[in-house]
Amino acid sequence: MMHLRSFLQSYSFVFFFAVVRYAHGDLSYSVQEELKRGSVIGNIAKDLGLEVGRLSARKARVDMEENDRQYIGINLRSGDLVVAERIDREEHCGEKPSCVLKFELLLENPLELHRLSLQVQDVNDNAPIFPKDTMKLEIRESAAKGARYRINAAQDADIGKNSVESYILEQNPHFVFSIQATRAGGRKYGELVLDKELDREEQQEMKLLLTAVDGGSPQRSGTVVIHVIVLDANDNAPVFTEAVYTATLPENSPMKTPVITVSASDADEGVNGEVTYEFSSISDKLRNLFSLDDKTGEISVSGDIDYEEGRKYELFVEAKDGYGLSSEAKVIIDITDVNDNAPVIHVKSLTNPIHENVSPGTEVGIINVQDRDSESNRQVRCSIQQGAPFKLVPSIKNYYSLVTTGQLDRELVSDYNITITATDEGSPPLSSSKTVQLSIADINDNPPVFDEQSYSAYVSENNKPGSTLCSVTARDPDWRQNGTVIYSLLPGEVNGATVSSYVSVNGDTGVIHAVRSFDYEQFRSFKMQVMARDNGSPPLSSNVTVSVFVSDVNDNSPQILYPAPEGNSFMTELVPKAAHGGSLVSKVIAVDADSGQNAWLSYEIVKSTDPGLFTIGVHSGEIRTQRDISESDSMKQNLIVAVKDNGQPSLSATCSMYLLISDNLAEVPELKDISYDEKNSKLTSYLIIALVSVSTFFLTFIIIILGVRFCRRRKPRLLFDGAVAIPSAYLPPNYADVDGTGTLRSAYNYDAYLTTGSRTSDFKFVTSYNDNTLPADQTLRKMLSRSCFPFVVVFLIMMYRLIRPCYVN
Ligand SMILES: *[C@@H]1O[C@H](CO)[C@@H](O)[C@H](O)[C@H]1NC(C)=O
Ligand SMILES: *[C@@H]1O[C@H](CO)[C@@H](O)[C@H](O)[C@H]1NC(C)=O
Ligand SMILES: *[C@@H]1O[C@H](CO)[C@@H](O)[C@H](O)[C@H]1NC(C)=O
Repeated sequence: MMHLRSFLQSYSFVFFFAVVRYAHGDLSYSVQEELKRGSVIGNIAKDLGLEVGRLSARKARVDMEENDRQYIGINLRSGDLVVAERIDREEHCGEKPSCVLKFELLLENPLELHRLSLQVQDVNDNAPIFPKDTMKLEIRESAAKGARYRINAAQDADIGKNSVESYILEQNPHFVFSIQATRAGGRKYGELVLDKELDREEQQEMKLLLTAVDGGSPQRSGTVVIHVIVLDANDNAPVFTEAVYTATLPENSPMKTPVITVSASDADEGVNGEVTYEFSSISDKLRNLFSLDDKTGEISVSGDIDYEEGRKYELFVEAKDGYGLSSEAKVIIDITDVNDNAPVIHVKSLTNPIHENVSPGTEVGIINVQDRDSESNRQVRCSIQQGAPFKLVPSIKNYYSLVTTGQLDRELVSDYNITITATDEGSPPLSSSKTVQLSIADINDNPPVFDEQSYSAYVSENNKPGSTLCSVTARDPDWRQNGTVIYSLLPGEVNGATVSSYVSVNGDTGVIHAVRSFDYEQFRSFKMQVMARDNGSPPLSSNVTVSVFVSDVNDNSPQILYPAPEGNSFMTELVPKAAHGGSLVSKVIAVDADSGQNAWLSYEIVKSTDPGLFTIGVHSGEIRTQRDISESDSMKQNLIVAVKDNGQPSLSATCSMYLLISDNLAEVPELKDISYDEKNSKLTSYLIIALVSVSTFFLTFIIIILGVRFCRRRKPRLLFDGAVAIPSAYLPPNYADVDGTGTLRSAYNYDAYLTTGSRTSDFKFVTSYNDNTLPADQTLRKMLSRSCFPFVVVFLIMMYRLIRPCYVN
């Protein structure tokens, strides 16, 4: 009732109007919703002017139009209209601003129908309600300031003041809340407005409590938790732990050796934070050397790392997240040297061959040594093997001069293999060596040298022309033509003739040949000079003396000088009748042009008239009486004497010796009877003419000789006293006396005389042999004066023999 009263008071005008209207038929009441059952709404009896007691009789009841539900009832005893069932305004009218329920009041007896309108008034019985307790809001962190996010509004079933009046957002740094009304329906909704950018990395999520409050009294509220999840935006690039990474790596590191691991982190999450690595702008070369694990960031070796190729590498590694934000870091890889390169020896120049006469210290070659390593690994020492006359002289930088240290001699060592060794100072050291072949070129520095200091050749006389005498050999250690020896005879004279007319030498072999036959009787030895000359330029030579000794051959039979050997001589010796035994009667004089044994003559009487009377000295040729001459001995004695030399085989000659035992020269005319028969009867007149002319010549000659003799006041000795005056020269030759004025010379003289007498080579030879300082004519004179006697003897014999035929005739 209090409600009703206050209601009526406050809405008296409306109420009055309604009553007025209902006075015309309809009743109108107002009631608060949610009143307790039995709450009095109004009194119909009063309002309709009905008797209370009659209500029951009239079976008054209130029905709801179009509905069976009995929300209100009638207290039939009081006529009060009461709440029969909870009336929820929201149930019936929702959000309609006015809520009127229509009822019909039915009275029977008589039937009476009244219409009742019940105005249900709102009571704040509903709190604002959000559709969900929590709502999830995913906001990308990249959202810009001012971004709006719709929030479903809270619902409050109440209306008017009792419905949602305002929202309160929990205090937070990022969002504010604003209410918006939809243009169309006027429905309100809220928006979260980003007031300050989000950073997922700072705060991944937040829970904001949004409270909706209504305007009722008491005020009701509803809350919702807005779960803001900050979605990641790829707003963070990966970040390397270092801007520059430095690593050292020894060269020759094997494949897959880890070098360094770069690492970048990305604050983003998920794909945005997935970092992969790759090389950014890298040369192909580096790409072949290093590989990068795109997941782990490990850089490892994938190629041959050679310090000599590159000492320092700079790489750029890019770290990238899933959506392509990236950053870059620099990686410096220092390669450290390992002694992996042996020194290399280059022969820059080489004089090859070198002449053996180069002076010590001559530069022969230039050597360059290189080591590709660095520092001590490239410090190189160079050496040369011992024993060769060379050394290495360090020059600028890594250059060395190869220099001779001593005199070279091709004849001792003709080529050298010079081994140069280079060692570096690495640990362990590496070394290499190179052999340089060096030839020594020849210089004609050696003259030919004869094997012997002098040569002697022995040859028997009468050798065949062309026979080999001996051979000389000279050696020259030089090379090719510098060592090619050519032999030649040096010009010289042998007995006045050129030596080349006697011997020749084979230029190539050094064999010496006789050019002609030698005659011991002409010369017994001679010397010549043979030159050995090499073919160098200039040539070198040496000389050697070759002595040729001619040995005697028994080629000359004894020559009987006296008496004339021809058997028909009638040379007669007078033997005094009074001669005693042992008296020297005569002497057979013979010579032998040979020498030695070959000229050792022995005499023998091979036949005699009276064998016991005469004897001959075996070697002296002296004929002596063996006993005293007696009267009974025949006056004419005839001896045949043989002269033999001692050669092998021996040669001999015979002669006849006529002896006349008489004291008187007057008996001589009988001589012809003694000696001759008539053998020469056949002489022709032709011969006579010849003889006459020859005689004339001899006579002239005699006159000359006699003239000479007289000039010298020397009387020629007579033939017949020669028996005791025989010069010693006619004595048998002495072995040692070869060069004297003995037999040999006499023989020559004899020969000379018998030949033409002109100064041919033979004659000249003789003169020079005898006394080579004298001119020929002088020699002749001297010869004549010194050995006049034999001449005279011979001459007289000759003359006698020539003239004798005349006597005969
Ligand atoms: C040098 O070497 C060459 C070739 O290897 C060889 O024929 C020659 O005999 C060597 N010379 C010396 C002097 O060792
Ligand atoms: C011979 O020696 C000369 C120098 O004396 C030299 O020039 C020449 O080359 C040498 N000949 C040979 C074949 O070695
Ligand atoms: C050899 O003899 C010749 C001629 O007499 C001379 O020219 C040359 O110098 C001599 N040589 C030597 C090495 O004696």
